[in-house]
Amino acid sequence: MTFTELCKRVRKHIGQDYRYAHCVRVARMAENLARIHGADPGKARKAGMLHDLARLYSGERLLAECEGRGVPISDFERAHPIVLHAPLSAELARAEFGVDDADIRSAIAKHTLAAGEMSVLDCVLYLADGLEPGRDYPERAALAEMAGRDLPGAMRATIESSLRYLSSKHLPLAPQTADAMQRFGAQPMTEATTGGHS
Ligand SMILES: [Fe+2]
Ligand SMILES: [Fe+2]
Repeated sequence: MTFTELCKRVRKHIGQDYRYAHCVRVARMAENLARIHGADPGKARKAGMLHDLARLYSGERLLAECEGRGVPISDFERAHPIVLHAPLSAELARAEFGVDDADIRSAIAKHTLAAGEMSVLDCVLYLADGLEPGRDYPERAALAEMAGRDLPGAMRATIESSLRYLSSKHLPLAPQTADAMQRFGAQPMTEATTGGHS
């Protein structure tokens, strides 16, 4: 399947222009970052295009499809099924789009929560997903610029940014993200950085 054919199939599978446009931007940014940081640009582009195949599924559908397709579900994921769209999209990439490549599937599976062990390709997709130009938050441009020259630094800063977001929304920290914090030296939120709300 050519990349153009893959894009057409992804567009149809996702069925929503807004989400598909995000995938196009993520694919483009991941490809660029891979070129800079020495990952495979073709794999990065494919991972970007396929990373959100299950993003619009309901919580019930995510749980049911993960169960049906043998994708393991942790306690955290059962309590917050939305995050299952990452491992389920990796499985859909394999089962429905013929992607056997373990590197691509790993990057897709880790794109939302990150992980304690991440390859350059994993990092590239995680950063492209969080920092693509369609995302709208104050630190985005500075983080995207950092991603182009300092991959571990951008991982640390982007994880810290997502910790601030979780904290502001009173959302819990996933075990995988806690592992990624350790791995990249991201600092946990303090009273001062969260604005001290209780
Ligand atoms: Fe996603
Ligand atoms: Fe995404």
